[in-house]
Amino acid sequence: MTTAVSATQNMGLYLASNPGVKYILFGGKGGLGKTTLSAATSYWLAKQGKKVCVFSTDPQASLTDIFERKIFGQGEVEIAKNLYALEIDADKRIAEYQNEIRQKIRDMYKMETIPEEVEDYINSSSAEPAMAESATFDAMVELMTSGRYDYYVFDMMPHGHAIRFLGMADILDQWVAKIMEVRKKAGEYKESASVLGSQKGGLAQEDYVLKELEFIRNRLDFVSNMVRDKTHTAFFYVLIPELMPILDTRKALEMFRAFDVTVSGVVVNQVYPQELRDSGGVPDFLKHKIDSQQEYLGQIKGEFADLIRGVVPMLDREPKGLEMIGRVAGILFGDSGVFLR
Ligand SMILES: Nc1ncnc2c1ncn2[C@@H]1O[C@H](COP(=O)(O)OP(=O)(O)OP(=O)(O)O)[C@@H](O)[C@H]1O
Ligand SMILES: [Mg+2]
Repeated sequence: MTTAVSATQNMGLYLASNPGVKYILFGGKGGLGKTTLSAATSYWLAKQGKKVCVFSTDPQASLTDIFERKIFGQGEVEIAKNLYALEIDADKRIAEYQNEIRQKIRDMYKMETIPEEVEDYINSSSAEPAMAESATFDAMVELMTSGRYDYYVFDMMPHGHAIRFLGMADILDQWVAKIMEVRKKAGEYKESASVLGSQKGGLAQEDYVLKELEFIRNRLDFVSNMVRDKTHTAFFYVLIPELMPILDTRKALEMFRAFDVTVSGVVVNQVYPQELRDSGGVPDFLKHKIDSQQEYLGQIKGEFADLIRGVVPMLDREPKGLEMIGRVAGILFGDSGVFLR
């Protein structure tokens, strides 16, 4: 068995034969290569003359590390010709939200200062993981709707979170529908209520809450529609030839199917070159590792056959910096060069 990538498995060919694709997402379990492959894909596309922005949803400054440039919280940073990277400072955005909420409360209740209990509540919300996710999706939508780039590459959070937001969009849809129904009923009583003169403020506040909920729902809908849109979006899942990542990928593919998300392909990363096994002086420890990986690679080829878009070897050092990222890109896309739209 060999780790060579056949023509049909090539990422470049996939993109060339899917010319509508604009959004490219990399998902997968933690630590297997999402950021590395996102960076490599962006680098390759930029080299083909396409204007690309790579966005990391990771709260750690991973693009900053990989491109060895200060990117975190800096907006869209130009890394090379046509290549831009964006890494948002979610905490900063959350602080901005909180200020907006404070202002809205002050305006709505005509208050000078916010009561301590409410202030505590607002402050504690910044510790909510959902707040960071919300800030991230906000930034994603902002970037996607900017229309400034030919390709948008998203280095996604580990899949559990990605799936959760799809579920959240569905739940919010039901929630907003229910509130609208109640609101409509309330509207029917509006006249009598205004005659009584007591309900007016309550309804105005409900409208405000409804508007906020609708805003959140629209944002989630936008992202979940994008993820489900096969023409414009390609979603790649990263794994390595080991048991747990294979099980995780199997489970993820099932979950994505349940949410009507098509996975465009899988990329197998960190594969020890088989040639290494029989070169002299290789310790048994490494031989066993290579044998085990080859066995799992066979399993991956059997189970995910048509979905394999690339096999990337374990490199002799961490792929950091443009030169190493270029090396990964060369392996992932092949150096042959493919026509893109
Ligand atoms: N083919 C490879 N050869 C050698 N090292 C690699 C390879 N791919 C990734 N790495 C290294 O493995 C580590 C994890 O990769 P990466 O950061 O891309 O994964 P990730 O999926 O983004 O992780 P996280 O879930 O933590 O964000 C990094 O230190 C990276 O440099
Ligand atoms: Mg990462």
